[in-house]
Amino acid sequence: MPNDANAALLDRDRNHLLHSLHSSKVHENARVWSRGEGALLYDANGESYLDGLAGLWNNTAGNGRPELVRAAASQLEELAYASGYAGSSNPRAIELAERLAAICYPQINRFYFTSGGGESSDSNFKMARYYWKLKGRPEKVKFISRQWGYHGVTFAAMCATGISPYHPMFEPLIPEFVHVPSPYPYRYQAPAGAASQGIAAADELEKKILEEGPETVAMFLAEPVQGAGGVIVPQDDYFPRVREICDEYDVLLASDEVITGFGRTGRMFGLEHWGVQPDMIQFAKAITSGYFPLGGIGISDEIAATIDEAGKPWMHAYTYSAHPVGCAVGLAMLDIVRDEDFPGQAAEKGKRLLVGLKDALIEHPHVGDIRGLGLMCGVEVVKDRATKAPFAPEDGVGPRLMQAMVSRGLFTRLRGEDVICLAPPIVASNEQIDRIVEIVHDAVNEVL
Ligand SMILES: Cc1ncc(COP(=O)(O)O)c(C=O)c1O
Repeated sequence: MPNDANAALLDRDRNHLLHSLHSSKVHENARVWSRGEGALLYDANGESYLDGLAGLWNNTAGNGRPELVRAAASQLEELAYASGYAGSSNPRAIELAERLAAICYPQINRFYFTSGGGESSDSNFKMARYYWKLKGRPEKVKFISRQWGYHGVTFAAMCATGISPYHPMFEPLIPEFVHVPSPYPYRYQAPAGAASQGIAAADELEKKILEEGPETVAMFLAEPVQGAGGVIVPQDDYFPRVREICDEYDVLLASDEVITGFGRTGRMFGLEHWGVQPDMIQFAKAITSGYFPLGGIGISDEIAATIDEAGKPWMHAYTYSAHPVGCAVGLAMLDIVRDEDFPGQAAEKGKRLLVGLKDALIEHPHVGDIRGLGLMCGVEVVKDRATKAPFAPEDGVGPRLMQAMVSRGLFTRLRGEDVICLAPPIVASNEQIDRIVEIVHDAVNEVL
């Protein structure tokens, strides 16, 4: 095609770039994103696409928000960088931690900042081990997480991640990371006689703690809604039972709010749906809407007091922790989340998306499940609705669905072959939400 700026850039890209999840095959038809406006992305040829996943679940405010740009620019002028190591601080980091304490779970009032989600996972693992050592229980070193959980790909975060393709090329994994089944309402098989599917799935945690020895387990890490693992929304009784189990066996409950934080699920933080209080949280992504790489952890008053009393340094550090520019953008973003009621908007638009998808596709013979909470939805396609058998990778359904959506102007991601993940910017208009439904409907009908 003459004047194909996208193709010309892609040729150069191939010479010198490696990408996350690098695959020359997947990258063959890559889009080179050149511009963004609200929930729309434009490639280098000027073609527009609906941003079906808000970048990577992060850009809830959409592109082109002048408040975020101004916050970054004025902070860059005032103080671009200063150390955040003990002995140094900066006003924006202090203000952001105060703001987070005001909106977070009541007993979480202390924060450590990172550059993203994976670093936040690692920070929590190291915080949990250190906490138990300070409590005189140094044998508590194991971490339990769930199948289909995604917690990042730094080495420790990868070990907690429960999506199996992430593991084989880097094994052996760290042995202190163990997994339990996901509550996955569409697929989890509760044993006969279980009180409910949610209780049975939570009891898998108790079973694993007892198997490993409660005296060895430091922490259970879980996303309120499993995101990259296929938008898996737990049963209402799952997390309350998980909390009881963690209390019974002295296991810290860490909530990975990297996707669910700051309104995405229709509440400010995900576990609020079930009235559950975690001991630790981790966040990233929407705290800056992707305008600056910033993440962090929050710890309970009890953990914070224990660390304070220790009187020795926590030997954990990142050059970019408490980055003044990231914190300035985070503050401006929290204003947007509050002033534009992002939780309320996500709840409303999410309902529109979920109802729309169900109306359009629930009868389709290859659609097994349509689920969601707030503005995050998943459409799971299956080879056989009766047996719930998935398509095999050789069927090529995933790439064909992706192609069918992209050709209609929707860019998003699938979990492997079978779950279309949708989490557009919270600022997406109702018309854009409806268009996403239309495109997913047409793509599924074209391919299946
Ligand atoms: C729940 C969750 N935790 C952690 C991460 C890792 O974040 P990052 O890619 O910033 O390291 C992600 C990324 O998608 C995530 O969804």
